[in-house]
Amino acid sequence: MQTYESYAEYYHDLTKYTPEGIASNQHRLDFNKQPTLFKEYPNRKLIDISHLLPLDKNPFSDAGIKNPDSFNSEEKSLSVLSKILYFSNGITAIVPFEDKPFYMRASPSAGGLYPTEIYVYVHDYPGLENGLYNYQALKQSLVQIYKGDLKNKISSAAFNHPAVEKSKIILILTGVFYRSSWRYQDRAYRRICLDTGHVIGNMELVSYSCGLKQVPIGGFNDQLINELLMLDENEEQVLSLISFVDKDSDLNFSVPNALPSKLDNKNIKTSEGNRLLELHQRSRSTNLVNVPNVSIENIEDKFKFSTKVEFEKNARSFGWKDKLLPVILRRRSTRAYTGESITIEELASIFEFTYRPDLMIEKNIDSKPVYFDSSLIQTFIAVNGVDGLEEGCYYFSQNEFHLRQVRFKNFRDEVYYLCLGQELGHKASVVVFHTANLSRAVFKYGERAYRYLHLDAGHLGQRMNLAAINLGLGVSGIGGFFDDQVNEVLGIPENVAVVYITTIGVPAKTS
Ligand SMILES: Cc1cc2nc3c(=O)[nH]c(=O)nc-3n(C[C@H](O)[C@H](O)[C@H](O)COP(=O)(O)O)c2cc1C
Repeated sequence: MQTYESYAEYYHDLTKYTPEGIASNQHRLDFNKQPTLFKEYPNRKLIDISHLLPLDKNPFSDAGIKNPDSFNSEEKSLSVLSKILYFSNGITAIVPFEDKPFYMRASPSAGGLYPTEIYVYVHDYPGLENGLYNYQALKQSLVQIYKGDLKNKISSAAFNHPAVEKSKIILILTGVFYRSSWRYQDRAYRRICLDTGHVIGNMELVSYSCGLKQVPIGGFNDQLINELLMLDENEEQVLSLISFVDKDSDLNFSVPNALPSKLDNKNIKTSEGNRLLELHQRSRSTNLVNVPNVSIENIEDKFKFSTKVEFEKNARSFGWKDKLLPVILRRRSTRAYTGESITIEELASIFEFTYRPDLMIEKNIDSKPVYFDSSLIQTFIAVNGVDGLEEGCYYFSQNEFHLRQVRFKNFRDEVYYLCLGQELGHKASVVVFHTANLSRAVFKYGERAYRYLHLDAGHLGQRMNLAAINLGLGVSGIGGFFDDQVNEVLGIPENVAVVYITTIGVPAKTS
């Protein structure tokens, strides 16, 4: 067997899609074992927060919608919480079916399986007793699962991250593994983290619009947090803590947002069906480990790419004022593209919002989102139809905001094949490949790197979703692709792993 430095690399290799693997996979969806997508706490009282939403009508209860001008101070603070939860993981559309309706959420999720659960810890927060709550999306309510002060416990589980001390709200995001593995088997871990990253993307922008700055915390003792939430660890575990500080706070915290776990490549061989949980278990932290000084290679120095295209000058401000919430409500993953081209201005504007919001002239939207470590992510794009840009595969430099052409050719047919024959890949104008040098990432963050990479790729993907929707374009994530063939065909360096794909294009009328 090949040797691996980390379990994460072993997991990544063994969950790759290959043409032979897909052809021989016997897995069929068992609808008798379909997961439930909502957690229930029978006999516990629901605290309704639906009437505090900024909506025209209350879809959750008869309580109506209260006019914000008449909020008392408790309602004001509860409305902030209601808004952050709803616009990140709440139900924004209901599709009627004969047996039961299908609930669509504010953030996209691979296969519509919504593995992300949100728990809320509040401390000295007007309107709610100190304690832990589960967000009940189905009723836009909270259910108390623990009453009392847990600040010290959470703080020490988070290795005393100073943002915890400053926060009145701490959200705890977990992954319910089976919701996604029911369909995607071991590879589901990738999608669970990507999905959760999308939720984090919305959360960050919405909280900023409420005067809060989101600080994701990736370093914590997993077991202690799981115990506080009373989770069955075979089914569900914590993925991230999110703290919120005043938006003008000094964010130069002494502890980084992402901390490493150790590398664990002993007795690596694991049977199919057990690799998801095994990776997560091996990525857990128990104590604070400092981040080693690892520089992430500059891909442009290493690979001498050809033609350089400066495209910062093409970016336009497309205006977010009062648009964020309507855009989130409107967002859906595009189901079909026309195949028409978008413009270089549209592409550059989407990229500016996604990767370099600090360059935007617009100041009413968070211009410095905090990631776990987005320097780990490298971006390549296949341009199939962009007016003003030659067809081909490009490397995109986040720092310099330019493109470097890697291969010259229209990749429509190839991308269609690489995305497992999904028409979205064929008709998209641009296909974005979120990639990372996995061996450098695990060297820096141990097994936990895998989690950070996918959470951050999802976060970036969500910004891309919102920017595209704001421009009236179509967008959809793609989690299923032939991993190694993507590198071969597009000329993406071999040591760079593709972790996620986002497609952008002109939406067909039916979608
Ligand atoms: C991580 C991730 C992977 C996805 N992969 C695919 C995919 O391979 N093919 C596809 O058609 N849609 C894909 N989607 C889109 C989902 O199918 C879509 O989000 C889900 O059906 C919910 O619908 P909505 O996004 O319109 O709310 C993906 C979404 C995410 C977040």
